[in-house]
Amino acid sequence: MITSRDLTAAVARLRAGEAIAFPTETVYGLGVDATNPAAVAKIFELKGRPSNHPLIVHLASASALDQWAATVPATAHRLAARFWPGPLTIILPRAAHVLDAVTGAQTTVGLRCPAHDSALALLQACAADGITGLAAPSANRFGRVSPTTAAHVRAEFGPALMILDGGPCSIGIESTIVDLSGSAPRILRPGAISEAAVTETLGIPLQQSMTDAPRVSGALATHYAPNTPLLLVDSQTLRKQVQALRAADLRFVVLGFGETADDLPELVAMPPAAAAYAQRLYAALREADESRVDRIIVEQPPQTEEWRAVHDRLSRAAGSNQDSRRR
Ligand code: TXA
Ligand code: MG
Repeated sequence: MITSRDLTAAVARLRAGEAIAFPTETVYGLGVDATNPAAVAKIFELKGRPSNHPLIVHLASASALDQWAATVPATAHRLAARFWPGPLTIILPRAAHVLDAVTGAQTTVGLRCPAHDSALALLQACAADGITGLAAPSANRFGRVSPTTAAHVRAEFGPALMILDGGPCSIGIESTIVDLSGSAPRILRPGAISEAAVTETLGIPLQQSMTDAPRVSGALATHYAPNTPLLLVDSQTLRKQVQALRAADLRFVVLGFGETADDLPELVAMPPAAAAYAQRLYAALREADESRVDRIIVEQPPQTEEWRAVHDRLSRAAGSNQDSRRR
């Protein structure tokens, strides 16, 4: 439970230019006053994040949009009306005052109003105190798995950081990012809000190409990666893979669906529905890391649209390991 005293203390820290961690429905954020250059610099230092990777500015409501964007097209109003508060980030041309450090020196800014009572209470308390936006990346060190509990944040940053504990995040993977700054809208990062829902709301087709996409740090292969090498395996080859690992005397866990722990002692049973799977995924990856196995085997989820955001995160987790560990 986050009390009004916690909120007052959090706002005081933010006002003093410090960072605090707070819960959202997607993942925990590491927030600072988005207009304070020294505070924004702290985020990059704390995370070890390259300075050209832009931050999302979190707003108390859509009415703050025109304080942060130079122009707010009808498409942005439509998306905000349908999905905010919610797991959707909208990229718009930035207002003149927005710090280069926040935008990665791009001409655009990412904006989101999160659907989490404590996050909204914090953002409203900030707004009442003159802080109209919190720049907040996920509260993890650069390249690592995003945190979905306060304990995850603690494991990343230690006891010095103030964390508002709102319990486990309900969605568990980062927001869908829609870029409305170009000639046609496009999705830069898949999330719980599907491409179909965005298209239906906008009533116009999305641009599919990712070429010339603005910098999206989540698009790097090194993102969302556990420390342990992760292999994505389809259901048909799972048994064979398991036998090969046993033969090689490697310790492993299997994040999977079909088997039971009677058949497969290494099994960590994952939820069969996409939303519940996403909610569990990052915690499962962290637990696998902590169990100090040699490999994390992930049974491929179904290749259907509702699993798109999960596939995106899994292939990055696998891809970066496969790149970096083979060198
Ligand atoms: O669900 C979320 O979005 C979480 C919670 C805390 O709100 N935040 C989050 O932040 O995932 P972060 O910094 O880990 O990822 C933000 C992504 C990055 O990939 C960044 O490059 C992209 O948003 N981004 C931010 N501003 C952008 C911009 N102006 N143009 C393109 N991409 C942008
Ligand atoms: Mg992140």
